[in-house]
Amino acid sequence: MIQKPKGTKDVLPNESYKWQFLEEKARKAAATFHFKEVRFPTFEVTELFQRGVGDTTDVVQKEMYTFESKGEASLTLRPEGTASVVRMFLENGLYGGSLPAKYYYIIPCFRYEKPQAGRLREFHQFGVEMFGTQQPQADAEVISLAYEFFRSLGITGLTLNINSIGCPECRKKYNEALKDYFRPHLGELCETCQGRFEKNPMRIIDCKSPICQEIAKNAPRMLDYLCDECKEHFEKVKGYLTAMGIEYQIDPNIVRGLDYYTKTVFEFVSNQIGAQGTVCGGGRYDGLVQELGEKQVPGLGFAMGLERLILLMEAQGLSLGQDETPEVFFVSFPETVEKAMQLVHDLRCQGITAECDLMGKGMKPQMKYANKIGAKYTVVLGGNEVESGQVNLKDMASGENIPCQLSDIAAFLKERK
Ligand code: HAM
Repeated sequence: MIQKPKGTKDVLPNESYKWQFLEEKARKAAATFHFKEVRFPTFEVTELFQRGVGDTTDVVQKEMYTFESKGEASLTLRPEGTASVVRMFLENGLYGGSLPAKYYYIIPCFRYEKPQAGRLREFHQFGVEMFGTQQPQADAEVISLAYEFFRSLGITGLTLNINSIGCPECRKKYNEALKDYFRPHLGELCETCQGRFEKNPMRIIDCKSPICQEIAKNAPRMLDYLCDECKEHFEKVKGYLTAMGIEYQIDPNIVRGLDYYTKTVFEFVSNQIGAQGTVCGGGRYDGLVQELGEKQVPGLGFAMGLERLILLMEAQGLSLGQDETPEVFFVSFPETVEKAMQLVHDLRCQGITAECDLMGKGMKPQMKYANKIGAKYTVVLGGNEVESGQVNLKDMASGENIPCQLSDIAAFLKERK
């Protein structure tokens, strides 16, 4: 038996409604904040992620699904959405439109990671990106969108952690301080981090190796190195969050695992879903558009993992909607199959979910099936019923029989809905 690849998941027919529910809520939250949906390719030229996400990150160094494509440039299944949205923004000249530009996406992403609860190799993100504004109000708006989305789902107990990792200017001083700190431990760091030491010492802080984590514990913190502008920006973001009634904690250890961030970074974290507790992560990336396309356009956004969100909602016993069931099932006999087909088709054309037997089953198994699929009403359609036009609608929950004209069934069901 061929099985699905490691770290992937099937969404079975009896659980797909949960995904539809979440996606609908995400679309609604994004629309309320006036973010427009964008769709973009599942794979991109590998260089986009190398330059965008950064070639000293775990994502680029260890986790990308990269393949050669019949003599063309190397391609990679997207590990995240931001780099692609920036590419799309540049390639389509969207910077020439009105700014800020606000986009959202719901996409599968791919990372070659060790699978565990809440960590998959194919997972799904709901993300947003905003372009064109350096103002701290924008940071607060993006955070408030994630916050409002979680609230609309009834989620409680998430902690919002925020930090500032400054701009390239203040980062220079910080990188020097980091190097001074790590230098005596250089030989103990993992091989990847030894390579990061010169190029990007901040990456050592979010290395997953336990030894590097232990060493990095007391590393200098970016917050102590912020320049005046970055400090003021961070103060204002905090002020707006407070004004909106959004509680947060400062976590000076957040550096995020992707290279493009500047200034504000944030994560929504749960302690109810195991080790992979970060449900949402994001921040500002004022240099990324310039890095990829020579246009100086600031940006910011977040992405949240839908699998982790479902885990969390299930842990909290929250509703993820419900499965749709048919309004009515027509139990037919060989001589009334044609009439049943006609009636079902007629109801479906009016938007009513109706079912009839497609298996040539007898009456009892048909009733059993109708019960199993959760039909709200059943109608036994014998020759007499077809002739007289008079039937009984059986309420499957109460067992009550409601007499009805065949021609009135649509109106009856619409009224009950
Ligand atoms: P990220 O922190 O790499 O950020 O991923 C965002 C979220 O995706 C995580 O918080 C987590 O919920 C989910 N996630 C990541 N990896 C996995 C995995 N292997 N399995 C399951 N879920 C996972 C980004 O991707 C940035 N592009 C976010 C962003 C948008 N920043 C600015 N704009």
